[in-house]
Parts: sequence; structure tokens; C-alpha cells
Amino acid sequence: MNQTALSAFLCSMKKFTRPLLYALAALLLLAQLYRPERNLSNDQTHHISLKYPTPDEVNTILEIACNDCHSNQTRYPWYANIQPIASWLANHVNEAKRELNFSTFTKRKIAVQNHKFEEIIEMVEEGNMPLGSYTWVHRDAALTEAQKQTLTQWAKACMDTLQAQYPADSLVLQRK
Ligand code: HEC
Repeated sequence: MNQTALSAFLCSMKKFTRPLLYALAALLLLAQLYRPERNLSNDQTHHISLKYPTPDEVNTILEIACNDCHSNQTRYPWYANIQPIASWLANHVNEAKRELNFSTFTKRKIAVQNHKFEEIIEMVEEGNMPLGSYTWVHRDAALTEAQKQTLTQWAKACMDTLQAQYPADSLVLQRK
């Protein structure tokens, strides 16, 4: 591209920038009208701690590091009101709850519960949970080695309890 062609191109771009910025601002404003449903139910009838002994120490870790995504109670920061963050967070919570919800944990089949403990151990040991995008903002949710140990040992103890209470084949997840 020669000099004149380049400056003509830049000039025509300038003509578009302002309307484009206005359109973008309008779109962002409009997006604020959409408010995803908040994850704030008080129903704890099937809460995990009602079936599995959950020491305070474990509860504290779950509260700090997991419950915002894996329970029916999210603590929303102020910026959760702003789109597109609101939708991004809502999607995360919905996806996370589909996999694992401590508030409704005992509703699921016993084999699924057993498998979820297995997954918890795996995720925590490998450092995949809590999500990196979460600990980046919530620094205190990044688990120490001791906290990881506490959590995985609790999950193992829960699996032991299940093994003592149920026949082995009822704990095996049937894959379709
Ligand atoms: C910021 C939200 C967030 C936090 C906090 C979080 N998770 Fe998750 N978790 C997710 C999402 C989203 C998924 C589903 C998608 C995926 O597997 O990446 C998930 C999936 C899982 C799964 C299922 C994994 C699989 O094998 O499919 C387990 C188990 C899990 N999380 C455990 C935990 C534990 C334990 C904590 C706390 C130490 C935690 N998570 C904290 C968002 C979160």
C-alpha cells in the first residue's frame, strides 16, 4: 500500500470509529437490562452435611473455595451486577452446579455421590479446583497443601462410610 492509499484508508476508518463506539456503548447499556437469575436459594434439605459428617474445618474450606459455584448460595461481589460479567458468572455457576451441588448432594443416586467424592479428590489433588479464574480474584480460595489434605481426607472418609454402609455393586456408577 503506498502512502496516499494508506492515509485514505486511515481517514475512512476514522469516519467509522465514532459510530462504532456509540453502537458498542449502546449495546453495553442495553445488555444491562438482562439480569440472570441469582443463585440464592435457602433450601438446604439435601445438604451434604446432613448425611456425611462435615467438620467445621472442612465446611470453612468449602465455604471459602467451593460454595460460590457448587451450592445454592453464591456470595455476589458488586461487579456481579454488571453485564457481561453477570452472565459469565451465572453460566459458571450453572455449569458447576450441574456437576456438583453441595446443597442438593444427597438427592443424587448413591453411586453418583460416591463418584463425586472421587472427582473431588482428583480435582483438588491436581489443583484443577477451585478454578484459576476464581482464585485470581479470591486469593484466599487458593488452597494450601494442608487445606488440600483436609479436603481430600474428608472425601476419602466419606467414601469409606459409603463402603461400610452399602453393597459394593451399588456404589459402582452405571455408564450408559
Ligand atoms: C468459580 C467457580 C468454581 C469454584 C469456586 C469451584 N468450582 Fe468446581 N467446577 C466449576 C465448573 C464450572 C465445573 C464444571 C466444568 C468443569 O468441569 O470444568 C466444575 C466442576 C467440578 C467437579 C467435577 C469435575 C469433573 O470431573 O467433571 C468437581 C469434583 C469440582 N468442580 C470440585 C470443586 C471443589 C472441591 C471446589 C472447591 C475446592 C470447586 N470445585 C470450586 C466451577 C467452580
